[in-house]
Amino acid sequence: MATSSFHRATETVEYLRLRLPAHLAKPRVAIVCGSGLGGLAETISSTERIEWAYRDVPNFPQSTVPGHEGKLIFSTMTDRKVPVVLLVGRAHFYEGHSMELVTFATRVCKVLGVETMLLTNAAGGLNPEYQVGDIVCLNDHLNLSGLVGFHPLRGPNDDEFGTRFPALSDAYDISLRQLAHRSWQNLREQSPSQRKMHEGVYAFVAGPTYETRAECRMLRQLGADVVGMSTVPEIIVARHCGMRVLAFSLVTNNAVLEPAVRADDPQLEGLSSAALIEHLSRGRANHEEVLKAGRLAALDMQGLVLRIVSEM
Ligand code: 6GU
Repeated sequence: MATSSFHRATETVEYLRLRLPAHLAKPRVAIVCGSGLGGLAETISSTERIEWAYRDVPNFPQSTVPGHEGKLIFSTMTDRKVPVVLLVGRAHFYEGHSMELVTFATRVCKVLGVETMLLTNAAGGLNPEYQVGDIVCLNDHLNLSGLVGFHPLRGPNDDEFGTRFPALSDAYDISLRQLAHRSWQNLREQSPSQRKMHEGVYAFVAGPTYETRAECRMLRQLGADVVGMSTVPEIIVARHCGMRVLAFSLVTNNAVLEPAVRADDPQLEGLSSAALIEHLSRGRANHEEVLKAGRLAALDMQGLVLRIVSEM
């Protein structure tokens, strides 16, 4: 096995390039599709696409969830035929992968020649103004796992990718965010909807548990608008090697900010056990709810991504 992640990514790119026609071999844009957002793959040219299951791509992390096999798709998008690579599904830190593996696909994108990474995810809303189904254009992050030592750039620096101490103060590209807002406005003028687009701060947590109520209040007090278990490691690695970044969260549920019910609350006196269970589970984050909000809002998110790519 190659000795550095640069060499492993180069090995992977050599494997892919041998099997790609010239016009798809150097994608300009990479699009990472998060939970339930893979529908974008259906909107792209089916005649001109080459795809691999992650399990068939050398050095890619293997999914630990059966049926959650990821796909790498090379194609072109919009009538301008922009060469793109789609990453449908991603490796998460909570699955037990190292930070190196979680961000390996991002490094492969860099070696392929990608200039811009467009990342999407499903996240919990912490900002009380956000509704389920809203889209948040990220403008900053809290790398909670990184601050305590689980950081994708920990270890000897890979000079082929970037510098030892990269700045992240400009990680969320201002002109791409402006383009995102313009594109969203244009789409809304064509087809009005309730859905809003916000700008906000994403808190990255390792998972796999959803946050407790106290943790949600803590994250809100720290300045987070949404919380999730992905994207930030990829953004850091992308910025380290000089790619531009645009990232969106789909708010799939509201994280629970109210304090827990207290066992000594006199209101609970005399409730049946069914009523008690109903009372205690109000607002609990639920994987089904996350997937459903994803399905409903995915079409708008796809439209937005297409529009952005066409104007990039
Ligand atoms: Cl509430 N928390 C986390 N960590 N990830 C999520 C989520 C919540 N909702 C969707 N993804």
